[in-house]
Amino acid sequence: MTPTAGSGPEGPVLVIGGDGFLGCAVCRALRGAGFAVVAADIVSSEENTARGEVISLDVSDRNAVFETVGALRPSQIINLSYVVGPALAADLARAVAVNLSGQINCLDAALQAGVRRYLHASSIGAYGPSQAYYGDREITEEDGCPPPHHTELYGAMKAFDEVLVAQYASRIEVCGFRLSVIFGPGRRHGFTKWTSALCEQPDPGTVVEIPLSPDQRISLVSDEDAARLILLAVEAGTLPVPIMNSGGHDLCGEDIRQHLKSMNPGLAVSLCDRPAPLPFAHRFSNALAQRVLGFSLTPLDIGPDKPRIARKPS
Ligand SMILES: NC(=O)c1ccc[n+]([C@@H]2O[C@H](COP(=O)([O-])OP(=O)(O)OC[C@H]3O[C@@H](n4cnc5c(N)ncnc54)[C@H](O)[C@@H]3O)[C@@H](O)[C@H]2O)c1
Repeated sequence: MTPTAGSGPEGPVLVIGGDGFLGCAVCRALRGAGFAVVAADIVSSEENTARGEVISLDVSDRNAVFETVGALRPSQIINLSYVVGPALAADLARAVAVNLSGQINCLDAALQAGVRRYLHASSIGAYGPSQAYYGDREITEEDGCPPPHHTELYGAMKAFDEVLVAQYASRIEVCGFRLSVIFGPGRRHGFTKWTSALCEQPDPGTVVEIPLSPDQRISLVSDEDAARLILLAVEAGTLPVPIMNSGGHDLCGEDIRQHLKSMNPGLAVSLCDRPAPLPFAHRFSNALAQRVLGFSLTPLDIGPDKPRIARKPS
């Protein structure tokens, strides 16, 4: 039986990892739509702490998670906390404690508090490291990557997280989002931190190094679109599917170089002759999110004559 979001506590939406890059965008989108939101994070920026906007929570501390969730009795939980980027391989024990055990702690606490819906960020990394495995076609939620093809720990961990979360699906409504690479102002870390340059209007004289070859492709979704997808899921009456692709703009290095030059003609932008392989595929269908949530990507006009997409960090 699929649980519905029609019963349970009426508390705020709890965004765990709410001080992160995506977390801030999700909190903004939810607040903008009128939701009461509590953001929780192991660290919070000084500004947010001063405003009292982020409460302190370590998802690897099971007691703390139960206390926080029990006290807040949130209507829905969005778990965006994760150890990402180089930090993941640098401290595997910590990554497992946060990314896997932390997920279980949050789910168990959600069950105990009667939370109606649990949303989490998966990733296109769950499809494995290469488009070649699928051929030249759009990848859908029914596709998957067998364990031996997972050469990246991040993607393998995301795939396992999905398996973990699915264990709870008969007791709490759950949904994960296989998000493409997110760009937006203020990205602090991760393999694709450089994508911030797409939005940030770098100062003239800055050299932006794009670690892609001219024809190497990447699937990009804006922070605002990723946050809107999650907002739509929070607003939905029911969520009949456990996993959705965000989809993304399938762009090559040269598209991105031209876009940056059009934003700022004085900017030096370099591509790589021999780039490292990206750890992701690049062609994804978001037909499911369109059908279930009415979600579609905001058109991204790339090219010298197109409107600019640059935004200041907020
Ligand atoms: N940024 C992307 O391109 C992208 C793409 C696909 C999926 N995702 C997923 O979206 C989620 C958010 O990613 P992001 O880019 O905002 O990363 P981020 O690092 O900016 O955000 C993660 C947040 O989790 C917090 N966190 C880490 N350990 C914690 C702990 N023990 N307890 C509580 N909070 C903890 C961090 O402090 C951080 O604020 C992650 O699950 C990530 O894998 C991101």
